[in-house]
Amino acid sequence: MSKKAYVRAHTNIALIKYWGKRDETDFLPMNSSLSMTLDKLYTDTMVVFDEALPQDSFYLNGEKQGEKETQKISKFLNLFREEKNTAIRARVESINHVPTAAGLASSASAFAALAGAANLALGLDLDPQRLSTFARRGSGSATRSIYGGFVEWDMGTCSDDSFAVPVDDAGWDIGMVIVAVNQKAKEVSSRIGMKRTVETSPFYPAWVESAKRDILDIKAAIAAKDFIRLGEITEANGMKMHGTMLGAEPPFSYWEPDSIVAIKIAQALRKQGIACYVTMDAGPNVKVLCRLSQAETIKQALLEHFTEDKLIITKPGKGIRELTPAERAV
Ligand code: ADP
Ligand code: DP6
Ligand code: CO
Repeated sequence: MSKKAYVRAHTNIALIKYWGKRDETDFLPMNSSLSMTLDKLYTDTMVVFDEALPQDSFYLNGEKQGEKETQKISKFLNLFREEKNTAIRARVESINHVPTAAGLASSASAFAALAGAANLALGLDLDPQRLSTFARRGSGSATRSIYGGFVEWDMGTCSDDSFAVPVDDAGWDIGMVIVAVNQKAKEVSSRIGMKRTVETSPFYPAWVESAKRDILDIKAAIAAKDFIRLGEITEANGMKMHGTMLGAEPPFSYWEPDSIVAIKIAQALRKQGIACYVTMDAGPNVKVLCRLSQAETIKQALLEHFTEDKLIITKPGKGIRELTPAERAV
């Protein structure tokens, strides 16, 4: 008998970044991180486990994926098969409503959606906290996409307690303007980039120390609903992470000229009294954290340099959920 499920997961953007593993097999991070889940960007994934299937297969955006990508999926599904004590093979079909591997966190929504779908299809009944420890082993940032709003990934002490914790539903006047400077796949994946940084950057220990302070400070800002403080901590933390990469050997950077243009526009807006703060991930795209009620004004300012198709306004998103039959495009 085949077992099938369809799940949607939204991407998340870290305000306090995860950038480095203390254990690469179990995806245990060097520091706790904290993100905002995004409404506009998400992944829809279908998984069907079927005894008649000779092997796993994986389709992304309608295209059958090669051996390397399929192996990644198989390895991930093995975690669920072990839990269920079965060897049953699967077919996975996924649609990204987010550019793939471009620094817009496709790996976060991808593995949260696949974790959610595998959990349902196999009838494992894992609770969200435990499910986040499974998602983590597909991609670290996926840990946080299980929940909506502001989410902390507690670094924990071992594989069982390194999980996501919902912090706040972000149901206040907060949003993000994404400047999709370049939506092409990056040259250095997050995984390779962070590994090189941990191994070679002399700035790395200082980053870990300061990220530990930043997470305490940002949680206090969220509890106080202090948007300005939240933004200041976010911007500083992201800049520090990018600084570690310049110290790596060989050095690298995800920034492009247009990334700096977007940052300068945000800074100029701030001088005019519009509170907005930038953060960037492993890619050239800039995310402007702002009050949702001011997102349109910020977009207008960005339109002086960027075209409409490069600007995405989003509010905070929700956690994973099963797709209704009408929503099942995959
Ligand atoms: P990003 O900034 O998009 O998260 P990463 O380098 O962290 O970039 O991860 C990109 C990788 O995530 C892809 O190369 C692919 O292996 C995986 N991925 C992306 N989307 C999906 C999906 N829908 N299903 C399964 N894996 C995916
Ligand atoms: C800069 O979660 O994509 O976006 O765990 O190796 O799959 P792997 O990496 P990934 O790294 C995300 C890095 C980041 C910061 C963040 O999302 O916290
Ligand atoms: Co990623």
